[in-house]
This record gives sequence, C-alpha cells and structure tokens, in this order.
Amino acid sequence: MSEQETYVFVCDSTNVEKGSEAVFEINDREILVVRSTEGDLFAVEDNCPHANESISGGRFRNGFYACPHHGARFELSTGKSMTNLSTKPLMCFDIREVEGKIEVIVPKKEKKKFIPGGAPPGFGPM
Ligand code: FES
Repeated sequence: MSEQETYVFVCDSTNVEKGSEAVFEINDREILVVRSTEGDLFAVEDNCPHANESISGGRFRNGFYACPHHGARFELSTGKSMTNLSTKPLMCFDIREVEGKIEVIVPKKEKKKFIPGGAPPGFGPM
C-alpha cells in the first residue's frame, strides 16, 4: 500500500448516524460521507459530474444518491450514473469503520500542469 493509499481518519462513527451524511475536507477534496439507514458507509467526492456542483444535500435510498440540483442519480457503491444527465460517474473512495472511527483513502488531487503553447491547434492564442 503506497502512501497515497493509506486510510486517514475522518471522524468518530457517531458523527455520521444511520440515514445521515456529512462533508469533510480531506487532501484538498470535499468528501461526502453517507451512512445508509442500514448502516452502510459510502464516501464520494462532493461534486456532481453533471454540472460540477456540490452533490451533498441530496436524497439517498437503497444505495442510490440523487443530486439536489437536477436529480441525476448515482449508485453509491460504484459511482455509476443511473440517469442520462451524466455520462461520468461519481468519484468513490474506500471507506471503513475501525473501533468507532471512520477512515477513508483519498488520493491527493493531481494539479494540472500548465504548458505554455500546449493548447491544441485552434484553441490557443492566435
Ligand atoms: S449538478 Fe447534479 S444533477 Fe445537475
């Protein structure tokens, strides 16, 4: 397991009760932690791929999460989009609960390199 694949502490288990959610900043990412009414935990990026809006505050049931903005629905365990609103999936992260603590693996966000003059033909300055 590399350094980027290490579980990091998010919060105590009691901070995310059954049927609730919370957002945490981890490794420069906003992470939405959802606990189903059955007690299952999910961690996804708090970013809806439909229009790059925060997805937290939506509705979740039966392992699916509906974005509060336009209603795109995603499978929480895989991030798979279940509607035509988004062709991209939600970004999911490994999550676990150990001795009353919730932990996730969240890789650092890669910074995009700016390459002057690197734009494809027709997209750069003339
Ligand atoms: S931003 Fe989520 S459905 Fe549009």
